[in-house]
Amino acid sequence: MPQRPHEERVCHGVRFYQSRHSRIRQLKGLHSPLDFGYRVWTSCWLLMDYLKSLGLPPGLRVMDVGCGWGLAGIFCAKNLQASVTCMDADLEVFPFLDLHAELNQVRVSTLHKRYENLTSQDLEGIDLLIGADICYWDEMPEVLIPMIEMALASHVRLILIADPGRSSFARLAEHCEANYGAGTTNFFVRKPHPLSGRVMKISNGSEAHRKCPASILK
Ligand SMILES: C[S@@+](CC[C@H](N)C(=O)[O-])C[C@H]1O[C@@H](n2cnc3c(N)ncnc32)[C@H](O)[C@@H]1O
Repeated sequence: MPQRPHEERVCHGVRFYQSRHSRIRQLKGLHSPLDFGYRVWTSCWLLMDYLKSLGLPPGLRVMDVGCGWGLAGIFCAKNLQASVTCMDADLEVFPFLDLHAELNQVRVSTLHKRYENLTSQDLEGIDLLIGADICYWDEMPEVLIPMIEMALASHVRLILIADPGRSSFARLAEHCEANYGAGTTNFFVRKPHPLSGRVMKISNGSEAHRKCPASILK
C-alpha cells in the first residue's frame, strides 16, 4: 500500500495520524518531544499483534512504559478494556497521546516519570507492563533491568517488551532469559506495513498464588 503520510489510518482497531497529518503538524508547532517521542515507532505494531495472540482477559491493569504517543496502551484500553497508565519521561509526548486517546475514544492515565524512578507504589496493582522500542541505546539494559526487577518484585504478572532487534535489546533479553525465565520470539507482521522484530515475554510465575486469570501466564 502506498504511504500517505498526511492521512489518518487504522491498524488493529487503533486509529492513528500519520506524521504529516495536519493535526500532528499543528501539535508539533506547540510541543517538541525530546527523546525519540516525535513519532509512532514500529515495534508497537509487533506488540499489538503479539498481545492479540495471547488471548488475554478483559479488564487488566496495564502500564505502557516509554509510551511516546501511547498507541500500544491505547490498543489495550480499546481492545482489552484495560485500565491503562501511559508512562514517559518526556512531558512533551503527552499532548500527542491525548490526541490519539481522543481519536480512539478511550481514557488513559499518564505518569510523568523515568524508568529509573519507578516505584513499587507506581506499579501496585499493575497486571501487565508493556514497552515498545524502549531499548535503543547501549546503556538502556542497565536502566531497564532495575525497572524490570522492580516490576517483578511488585507482583506485575506479565512483562512484554518489543523491539526491531537491536543489539542492546539482545543484551537485555539475554539477561532476562538467564535471570527471570524470559522467552524471546521473532515476530513478523504485515500491518500497517511489513516489519519484523522480537518480543520478550516475562511471566512472573513466582506469584501464581495471586488472584489473577490463569490465562495470563500461558
Ligand atoms: C523510541 S520512543 C518509543 C515510543 C513508543 N513506545 C512507541 O512505540 O511509539 C522511546 C520513548 O521512551 C521515552 N524515554 C526515554 N528514556 C526514558 C526514561 N529513562 N524513562 C521513561 N521514558 C523514557 C522517550 O521519551 C520516548 O517517548
